[in-house]
Amino acid sequence: MSTTKMTEAQTAGLNKVVDSFSVSTDRLKVIVDQFVEEMEKGLDHQGATIAMIPSFVSGRCTGDEKGSFMALDLGGTNLRVCHVTLLGGGEHTIRQQKYVVSEELKTGPMRHLCDFIADCVDSFLTENGTSSSQETIQLGYTFSFPVLQTSINRGVLKQWTKGFNCSGAVGKDVTILLQDSFRRKNINVNIAAIVNDTVGTLMAYAYKHPETAMGVIMGTGFNASYYEQMGNVNKWTGEKEQEMVINMECGAFDCERRVLPLTVYDNKMDRESINVHQQLYEKMVAGMYLGEITRNAILDLVDQQLLFNGHSSKELNAMWSFETAYMSTIEVDNTSDLCDTGHILESVLNVPATTLADRQMVKAICNAVGVRAARLASCHIAAVMRKTKKVGEQFTVAIDGSLFEFYPNFEENMAAAMSEVLGEQARSKVCFDLARDGSGLGAAIIAMMAAKH
Ligand code: BGC
Repeated sequence: MSTTKMTEAQTAGLNKVVDSFSVSTDRLKVIVDQFVEEMEKGLDHQGATIAMIPSFVSGRCTGDEKGSFMALDLGGTNLRVCHVTLLGGGEHTIRQQKYVVSEELKTGPMRHLCDFIADCVDSFLTENGTSSSQETIQLGYTFSFPVLQTSINRGVLKQWTKGFNCSGAVGKDVTILLQDSFRRKNINVNIAAIVNDTVGTLMAYAYKHPETAMGVIMGTGFNASYYEQMGNVNKWTGEKEQEMVINMECGAFDCERRVLPLTVYDNKMDRESINVHQQLYEKMVAGMYLGEITRNAILDLVDQQLLFNGHSSKELNAMWSFETAYMSTIEVDNTSDLCDTGHILESVLNVPATTLADRQMVKAICNAVGVRAARLASCHIAAVMRKTKKVGEQFTVAIDGSLFEFYPNFEENMAAAMSEVLGEQARSKVCFDLARDGSGLGAAIIAMMAAKH
């Protein structure tokens, strides 16, 4: 490796790319204002851009709930099957098993996916010695896609996200489809609740910290939930004198492309995704997409002969090959010759040879995409605080997902952006708490609440 410095042309090309990813304070404020407006539309009527879905989870948990329940978690990288025992006093035990969902299952017929899930539950019950019981097992089903719920255990899939695209599911009740697979396979399980992962995360964290106000997922996908007074929800025809958790489905924010600062690299990724022009906010924030946006920016500089001497590789040319996890590794690479970055580029992605300047440029692009994601990811929280008039009060946000947990400085960058929008004093009252793997526990708590009713 030569230790060449960046040339003037390289510096200029890089600055242009990095600048295109910067989001000014003024722009953040515009996004938050627009977000509040979109939340109001979603609470007012069906069919708004942000769906603002009542989850049928009302009331707060106290931590004293007890009992044994099963939970499923579909929608992240793996399928998780869990057996949760709530012990009261905010304590619980959990046994869980992860199963890989193949690309074929993610994009094949829905019936195959449901049968696969039922088989996983069956083998979990057999391995854990719970299958012989005569009693029907109550299950909380975390299904992390936009589901328009009609009751605590009924809901119609609005659309797929995150690379799933099974046929025969959109417009159908996804609980009935899975319950049918259990029935056909004689598995004695009842789906007591269908739960979005953000709602599960909120409930799980609230089991120990009842003051929790929001549940957020920043992982493969991106979304949030919060408590709303149902008197504020015009489209809700049920009891108004209660509060309920709202699954915002905020990844769909601004699919009209009014305020989000989309770059050519975002547009290219979006155009080549399987849900074009949908989930644009999610696509700028979530782990599934950041690597691909970065790859597009890198290839632009290659094509301008400013990176890797104008050479790419078969691997780097393949869509989705630049994983978001590589960005985390590159961002923490503090070696003098950026050898970890060099390893990813040369050994994993087979780029022929890289100079120090090349590595520095790639690192700067990763940083720009990562910082932008974190800054944008704070906007929906600021908007919920405004909408619920909590600015200046203590506000606890339970956050799960690999991006929040592992991406370098993600939390700090979110906090900085929030401080720019709300002021440092208001920001200092906000806690972003890591709520690892909460949705299984949350689904069990919600199944328990549903069974009690
Ligand atoms: C889905 C949400 C989910 C989020 C996080 C999004 O793609 O639409 O329902 O909560 O991913 O998993």
